[in-house]
Amino acid sequence: MNKGTILVTGGTGYIGSHTSVELINAGYGVVIIDNLSNSNRDVLDGIKRITGVMPDFVEADCTDMAALTRLFETYPGIKGIINFAASKAVGESIQKPILYYRNNLNTLMNLLDLMPRFGVKGLVFSSSCTVYGEPDLNPVTESSPIKKATSPYGNTKQISEEIITDVINSGAPFKSILLRYFNPVGAHPSAEIGELPNGVPQNLIPYLTQTAIGIRKELSVFGDDYNTPDGSCIRDFINVVDLAKAHVVAIERMLTDKSEAPIEIFNLGTGNGLSVLQLIDAFERATGVKVPHKIVGRRAGDIEKVWADPSYANNVLGWKADTPIEETMLSAWNWQKKLRERGLM
Ligand code: UD1
Repeated sequence: MNKGTILVTGGTGYIGSHTSVELINAGYGVVIIDNLSNSNRDVLDGIKRITGVMPDFVEADCTDMAALTRLFETYPGIKGIINFAASKAVGESIQKPILYYRNNLNTLMNLLDLMPRFGVKGLVFSSSCTVYGEPDLNPVTESSPIKKATSPYGNTKQISEEIITDVINSGAPFKSILLRYFNPVGAHPSAEIGELPNGVPQNLIPYLTQTAIGIRKELSVFGDDYNTPDGSCIRDFINVVDLAKAHVVAIERMLTDKSEAPIEIFNLGTGNGLSVLQLIDAFERATGVKVPHKIVGRRAGDIEKVWADPSYANNVLGWKADTPIEETMLSAWNWQKKLRERGLM
C-alpha cells in the first residue's frame, strides 16, 4: 500500500523524524530533505529500525532553490509537503535575526513557489503557540489574539502564517494546514529516535535528562515567583509521537479533500497546563531518578503560562494527545540512556 509520496523538510530533526515514522507506518512514501545543520544521518537508520523502511534522503538546504527544484524533478510524484525545516532557538534568533528570517522564510517561499509547478496538493506548516505570546486567558483557542512576537524566531512563525494565508487567498491550487504546537517532549517508545540538540540544550527536557544522567551538574529552574500555584512557569507538554500523528491526519485531510477551507489552523496540545516543577516531579516519579535542580532568576522573554484548548483539533481532526506525562518522561529518559549506550552523550 502506498498512499503517495510526502516530502518532509527537516525530516531528520526532532519532530520531523517522528513524523516520518508515522507517515511510513500509515502507508506513505517519505522523501526527506535536510541540511543536517541540527541533526545527523544516523536518524535515518533509527527510522529504518522502527519502520523497516529507509526513507529517501536528499542532503540539501531548502533555501537553495536549484537543489529544491532538482528534488522535485527527481521525485515527480510528491503529493504533500510537511515543512519542519527551520531554525528554532529563541535566544539564538535574537543574536542572529537575519539567519532566522533567511532560513525560515526563504525555505517556505521556495516551497510555495514550487508547489503549483509540481502539482503538490497540500502543505502542513509547523507553527507554534509562540504566536499567542503571553495570553490574556488560558487555555488558548485558535481565535485567541495573536500578540506581537517577542523574538525573531516567533516573528518568523507569525510571518510564515501570513505568507501562507496570502498565497492561499491568491487562489493557489493547493491547501494548507497550520499546526500550532505547544511544547513537544519525549521520544519514540523504541528509543531509536528522539531529541538530540547540538551543544548545551536550551529547552527544558533535554537539559533535564542530561542532568539526570550526570552530563550537567544541575538543572536551573528559571523563576519561582510567577503568578502560578507553585511559582514556576506553566506549559502544555505534548508527547512528540502524539504530535507526529496529527501531521498524518492533516496530510490525509488535504489529500482526500476533507478540508473545510483552503487554509485551516489547529492548536496541538493536551489541554493540560503543567508547571516546570510539576514536570520535574513527573520525571522523578516515572523514572525513580532524582534531578538535581535549583531555582534561579527568570529567563528573559519567557511566557508565564500558556496551555491549549485542543478541542477544535480533537473534534475536527478526530485526533487527541493522550499519552500520560509519566510515560512521556520515561520515553525521554530511555532515549537519553540509549544515547549514552551508543557513546553519543
Ligand atoms: C520556546 C518557544 C517555542 C518553541 C520552543 C522550541 C516561546 C514563547 N516559546 O518554548 O515557541 O517552539 O522554545 O525551541 O518563544 N526552563 C527551565 N530551565 C531550563 C530550560 C527551560 O526552567 O534549563 C523552563 C523555561 O523557563 C520555560 C519552560 O522550562 O518555562 C519550557 O522552556 P523551553 O523548553 O525552553 O520551551 P519554551 O520556552 O516554552
